[in-house]
Amino acid sequence: MTLKRSVADASVKGKRVLVRVDFNVPLTANGAIADDRRIVEALPTLEHLRTHGARTILLSHLGRPDGVRDMRFSLRPVVHKLSSLLGQPVPLAEDCVGLAPIQAAARLENGGVLMLENLRFHKGEESNDPAFAAQLAQLGELFVEEAFGTVHRAHASTVGVARRLPAYAGFLVEKELRELGPLVTDPERPYVALLGGAKVADKLPLLGSFVGRADAVLIGGALAFPFLVRRGASLGATRVEAELEGPLDAFLAAAEKAGTRVELPVDLLYERPGTDEVGAAPANALPDGAVARDIGPRTRDRFYAVLQESRTVFWNGPLGLAEDPRFAAGTREVLAGLATLSGHHVGAGGDSARVAQALGVSQAFQYFSTGGGAALEFVQGAELPGLAVLPDA
Ligand code: ADP
Ligand code: 3PG
Ligand code: MG
Repeated sequence: MTLKRSVADASVKGKRVLVRVDFNVPLTANGAIADDRRIVEALPTLEHLRTHGARTILLSHLGRPDGVRDMRFSLRPVVHKLSSLLGQPVPLAEDCVGLAPIQAAARLENGGVLMLENLRFHKGEESNDPAFAAQLAQLGELFVEEAFGTVHRAHASTVGVARRLPAYAGFLVEKELRELGPLVTDPERPYVALLGGAKVADKLPLLGSFVGRADAVLIGGALAFPFLVRRGASLGATRVEAELEGPLDAFLAAAEKAGTRVELPVDLLYERPGTDEVGAAPANALPDGAVARDIGPRTRDRFYAVLQESRTVFWNGPLGLAEDPRFAAGTREVLAGLATLSGHHVGAGGDSARVAQALGVSQAFQYFSTGGGAALEFVQGAELPGLAVLPDA
């Protein structure tokens, strides 16, 4: 794993330092921060910059406002949290380009920290528009990439700015590379990928890279549904993302050829919306009107049996609708089982981290990545644009 030039080696005193962070934190229905881990994990870099007299300017997105200034996605709650964690007021410039950030940056003193409003209020962020990237870059003299969770996106703030300024990796990015790197280069075998979750269209095309890399892939959550349907299962009234047959067939064929074991649910827990009925059924025959919500007890046992043989485990994605106590058992029991096993266990994903915490099974993991999609792509050996653009150490 090549090391990146580190913020520890940058001379920052009195300089305006642009820091891309991933403060895309989960929010509750009333807009409060449900989990502040992504903010807390960036603090060592921010402390370093503060004690070394930098003028820190933070860049982040929150959610997917799609280029529209939608205040439901304002970073206001984040700067409140950050101010209290840092013990220093962090002003929020009302926009990330234009006059507001220029004026706010001019008021920064050595050791000061300023945050700019959501990058994704502008279309130029996701399209990596050169003019937008140049406007951001103009605000700083150095760039620090600290947003590990976003380095799989080739956006203006991850790639565009890094190309225009002397760029460094922040401490969180360094830690993620150190912790996740061994999963790419030399995982102790057997290596098992335990996958679930709901971002099916995002994740299914990525599964192929586990073929040959992992010894077994265990698939639960909504991610398993297209596979089951493809095998001819009837999933009642379960909503299944269609048009995934291509990547799914390719994955299964490649896995078979490479000898990578693939385990799918053999039973499921379901509910019948509009009634109190909750039940378990074989995964190939749910009753009419039933909606699949979790893996069943036989599947838990089968997954656990594979995990028992493992020396390395990568987990991303709850195995069921774990926010609902009726459908948390699959995730809870499999991870509680994992917690009793030795070996190297790494978790990843915003929802996964929150669910593991809520179910009291976080101790199953020695390390939990702040990245979701980014970690999933990274452990498959993909070159991530936000990392590729950073100079090596
Ligand atoms: P992460 O953020 O960890 O990468 P995802 O965003 O892909 O994970 O998916 C997390 C969500 O998937 C959870 O909120 C969980 O409730 C949901 N989920 C998993 N399995 C099911 C299921 N069978 N039915 C409905 N939702 C599910
Ligand atoms: C994440 O939460 O995975 C990152 O913040 C990236 O968000 P995105 O999937 O909306 O690009
Ligand atoms: Mg998620």
